[in-house]
Amino acid sequence: MKQGVDTIDFGPEPGSGLDTWLAWAAAELGDAAVDQPRRDARLLLGHAAGLDTTTLVAHPTRPLGAAGAAAFRTAVARRRCREPVSRIIGRREFWSLDFKLGPATLDPRPDSETLVEAALETITERHRAWRLLDLGCGSGCLLGALLKELPLAFGVGIDLDPAALTQARDNAAGLGLAGRAVFAAMDWSAGLAGRFDLIVCNPPYVPSAAIAGLEPEVRSWDPGLALDGGADGLAAYRRLVPGLPDLLAGGGRAIIEIAADQARPVAALLRQAGLAPATTRRDLAGRLRCLVAEAFAPELVKEK
Ligand SMILES: C[S@@+](CC[C@H](N)C(=O)[O-])C[C@H]1O[C@@H](n2cnc3c(N)ncnc32)[C@H](O)[C@@H]1O
Repeated sequence: MKQGVDTIDFGPEPGSGLDTWLAWAAAELGDAAVDQPRRDARLLLGHAAGLDTTTLVAHPTRPLGAAGAAAFRTAVARRRCREPVSRIIGRREFWSLDFKLGPATLDPRPDSETLVEAALETITERHRAWRLLDLGCGSGCLLGALLKELPLAFGVGIDLDPAALTQARDNAAGLGLAGRAVFAAMDWSAGLAGRFDLIVCNPPYVPSAAIAGLEPEVRSWDPGLALDGGADGLAAYRRLVPGLPDLLAGGGRAIIEIAADQARPVAALLRQAGLAPATTRRDLAGRLRCLVAEAFAPELVKEK
């Protein structure tokens, strides 16, 4: 296996067809132990050439111009160093919406769409002025997805990192949501007053010692503040959960992302805080992914 860019292969001759470039890049990425080399090569080629996937497939022998070739070579070299495709192209699709990424934002995960589904399931009437809160908003993907689905809702996004908030603000503006979203730098909810109908929160929950063992795409590119959950992964929950009851409106729900093995300890923290962890939800891979907690009426935890 070649490492990073130690051996530079500049690829096909300028003017070669897209299929030739694609085959070269897939081999380069496979050689660097990238998980899905052909898929990533196609995404990067489409980005460098300014073409969508359908056009790439329909015109395999179309030549790649000099500027496209230069951009593609650079993108392939970056991916060989295990920079994620989303960071190279600078954006990630979440809930079928475009979110730009920066060094301070977590790359949103498809699994976190489970929180959006769980939140929408609690909503009886979409056309109401729901009050939403996203604690640890990062790119603003959870809040943005919910505001898109709830056209009269208003949302607050909180993050400790001002650079993440700048990105979240830009993303909200790009989605046409600037008039319904405000973003503020805060240590969880310290200093936040008000009641919300829906609180979503995807806190950092990776145990500190486990971070070094994560894939390079995660450990080297996602910000530590977005990953590091302290010694047992639960540090952020311990700090933020006690503040939730004072933020929930009557009948409100808090939807909290967890790792699969954290349901019990986080449910216990919610109960200690006086909330009822009413349901859990699994992601597409069947792993427990979030807890839905209610402000009132404790019930037994029911798995879906
Ligand atoms: C796992 S990321 C989630 C980002 C985004 N909500 C998503 O789902 O992609 C956790 C976020 O919490 C933020 N964060 C970490 N500690 C915080 C704190 N004490 N107060 C507020 N936000 C914090 C991080 O900056 C990061 O953006």
